Amino acid sequence: MPTVSLSRLQGRITGLARFGALPGGGVTRPCWSPPHEEARAWLLAEMKAAGLTTWVDPAGNVFGATGVEALSAAAPAVLTGSHIDTVPEGGILDGALGVLAGLECLHVVTGTRAAHRRPLVVAAWSDEEGRYGSLFGSRAFCGALDVPRIPEMASVDGERLVDAMARAGFDAARAPEARAPAGAVDAYVELHIEQGPRLEEAGVPIGVVDAIVGVRRSRMVFHGQADHAGTTPMERRRDAFLGAAEYALRAREHVVTRGSGRSVTNVGVVRVHPGASNIVPGRAELVHEMRDPDPAVLERLALECEELAERVARERGLRAEVRRLSVTVPAPCSPRVQAAVAGAAESLGLAWQRLYSAAGHDAQNLAAITDAGMIFIPSKGGRSHRTDEASDWEAIERGANVLLRSLLALAA
Ligand code: HGY
Ligand code: MN
Ligand code: MN
Repeated sequence: MPTVSLSRLQGRITGLARFGALPGGGVTRPCWSPPHEEARAWLLAEMKAAGLTTWVDPAGNVFGATGVEALSAAAPAVLTGSHIDTVPEGGILDGALGVLAGLECLHVVTGTRAAHRRPLVVAAWSDEEGRYGSLFGSRAFCGALDVPRIPEMASVDGERLVDAMARAGFDAARAPEARAPAGAVDAYVELHIEQGPRLEEAGVPIGVVDAIVGVRRSRMVFHGQADHAGTTPMERRRDAFLGAAEYALRAREHVVTRGSGRSVTNVGVVRVHPGASNIVPGRAELVHEMRDPDPAVLERLALECEELAERVARERGLRAEVRRLSVTVPAPCSPRVQAAVAGAAESLGLAWQRLYSAAGHDAQNLAAITDAGMIFIPSKGGRSHRTDEASDWEAIERGANVLLRSLLALAA
């Protein structure tokens, strides 16, 4: 049974990390940005050098394949992959590991002519981090795009998706054409760092993912009245920021106390307008996200938090405006893929444990069109979405070999 070349994989991981590299370590490589587009060109060259057939679809997804020119129901493929876009000041493994380990697996297969009945394909999905809209590329591939909203999709700093894609040479209106032909994908398995502490604390090298959380993101805008910060009597102020701040604290309390115990919430984006130290904030906007493996819990919490926003606004003489930004539904992972991953780990003498993913992933879109699953490796200190994200190279090698054996088992 062939094994991956860690040195070659290491070379590609450090190679990709150059694009958008930050002076103190880590990367900022948002989708469609110049460093991302340079990384795309680099990835295509690496895929070609590995002997793969390559193509890029209208949603910007990059593919490398063994033995086929395109995906078709005539030869259902076993797919792997992840993403090469990153969060701002992110790590060099989130996404990159799954794309480059997948590339390494296909490189080994083409190099050793390892037997596989189904075509093997590795994908790099566009904008997994959702700078312009969550899991954009894999939604397009799975026919799950909210097409009428494409013209209004934008980043939090107001850059429209249409403009960002045009700058990179893509026509956003054509993204829906990326939809995969029905029946073209027989299975999907993605290797990813856990991005949390569970595997490391359990001392278990391989995670077999059984479910992936749903994520809901809403924009909450509190409208008050801009006023002079010195002359306006305190009791007359209608301070929008204080409304947003009280909402953020009470929403967190609500999700922690009234959620499922696995519910989590975050406010990572806050904007105050006009944004000067001597003006009482007239408007305050925050992006509030919640996650849970159970869709019903997520829906209930979202409705309760929308009511909370109205209540806080009323109590403070403000007006609240709620806009739902995105909903990613929780997804169970395929028992067939889970069994392939567990079998691959056992064939390598590796302990494994089943766990749910507390992070969102492209695999949850693929789960809607095929048997989809994920392999996790431990994150050091559970660190991710920060520049010091890291995993041991031995863990990376183990994960890549489990991915290789999983792919060959699924493609047999
Ligand atoms: O946010 C997430 O869950 C993923 O890392 N994009
Ligand atoms: Mn991420
Ligand atoms: Mn990721």
